[in-house]
Amino acid sequence: MRILGIETSCDETAAAIYEGNDGRGRILAERIASQIEIHARFGGIVPEIASREHLAALPDMVDEVMDEAGLAWDGVDAIAVTAGPGLMGALLVGISYARAVGRVSGIPVLPVHHMEGHLFAPGLSNELPTFPFITLLVSGGHTMLIRVDGLGRYTLLGQTVDDAAGECFDKSARLLGLPYPGGPAIATLAVDGDAGAIALPRPMLRRDNLNFSFSGLKTAVLHAANALKDGDEQGRHNLAAAVQQAIADVLVGKAVQACRSENVSDLVVAGGVAANHLIRGQLLDVAEKASIRVHLPAPAHCTDNAAMIAYAGFLRRQAKTPIPVHWDAYPRWPLSSLS
Ligand code: KG4
Ligand code: ZN
Repeated sequence: MRILGIETSCDETAAAIYEGNDGRGRILAERIASQIEIHARFGGIVPEIASREHLAALPDMVDEVMDEAGLAWDGVDAIAVTAGPGLMGALLVGISYARAVGRVSGIPVLPVHHMEGHLFAPGLSNELPTFPFITLLVSGGHTMLIRVDGLGRYTLLGQTVDDAAGECFDKSARLLGLPYPGGPAIATLAVDGDAGAIALPRPMLRRDNLNFSFSGLKTAVLHAANALKDGDEQGRHNLAAAVQQAIADVLVGKAVQACRSENVSDLVVAGGVAANHLIRGQLLDVAEKASIRVHLPAPAHCTDNAAMIAYAGFLRRQAKTPIPVHWDAYPRWPLSSLS
C-alpha cells in the first residue's frame, strides 16, 4: 500500500510517500519546505502568508516526491492529509489540493490528525511498541501525556495548564535575543553553558499529578535575562543551558511518573521538542534505570513533516478505519475525540 502524505498545518509545507505492508514499510520520498525565514521579519507566523506559501510550494513538491518514488497516480492507494489542528487557511490549502487530486485520479483522501501523526512517528524508523504505551507529545502548541491503548484509543493523562514546552523554548529564546524556532537556538547556545550557574524552578515536578506549567519558568528566565550585564556572553550561555535543563528535568520526570502510575513500561516521546539532544539523552538514561523502554522518532521526524502523516494514514488504512463521509479542516481538534 502506498500513501501520499501532505502536511500544511502551520509553517512547513511537506509531502512524502510511504509504502507499507503488514505494519512494516519505508519512506519512498519526502520533502519539506520551511517558511521560517519568510515569517521571521514579522516576529511570528502570519497565517495569510503561510497559506500563500503552501499554495506556491505544494504542487511542485508533490510532483517531485512522485518522480523520486517513480510513481504515477495509479500507483498511489490513498492520500493522507493533515485536517487539523492548525491554521485554518493553511490546512485548507493541503486539503483542497488533496481533494482535487483525489477526485481527478479516483484516489481516496483521508483526514489525519496532526498530533496522531506525531504520536506514531517512531514507527517510521523502528517497530512501534505494543499497546498500551505512554506518549509524551511535546511541540510548539502542545505538552501532553497520553495513554495509548490502540489506534484512536487515547486517554489524556495530563497536559500543560499554560504554555507548551516548545513555547517556553521559543519565548526564552526571544528573551535571549535568539531567532525562532527557539528550541534549536537555545540548544546551540547552551553547548558552552553551565546549567548549574543559574537556579531556575522546575514547575509542578513534585506535584502528585501529570500536568505541566511553563509560564513561571518563562518569568524566571525573564528575570534572569534582565539581571545579565551587557556583554555577559558566558551568562547568556549559562542561562540557555539552565532553561534547557529545567525543561528537560520536568519533561523526563513527568514522563517517568506517568509510566509508573499507569504501570506501563513503553514510552514514546514525539513532537518538535523531542528533537532536543539533551532531552533525548536524559530520557534514555533515566528510563533505563526505571526499566522503561523509550521510543523516539529520528530528530527530523520529531518536527513537522509529511512522512508521519503518510504513516498515520497507512495505519488507519491498514486498520480499515472508515473515512468519514463529511469532513472539514479542524483548527481545533482534540485528540481524545478520535476513535
Ligand atoms: O512539532 P513541531 O515542529 O510543530 C508543532 O506542531 O508545534 O514543534 C515545534 C516546536 C518549537 O517550539 C521548537 O522550538 C521546538 O519544537 N523544537 C525544539 C527543537 N527543535 C524544535 N525544542 C528543543 N530542542 C530542539 N532541538
Ligand atoms: Zn507538529
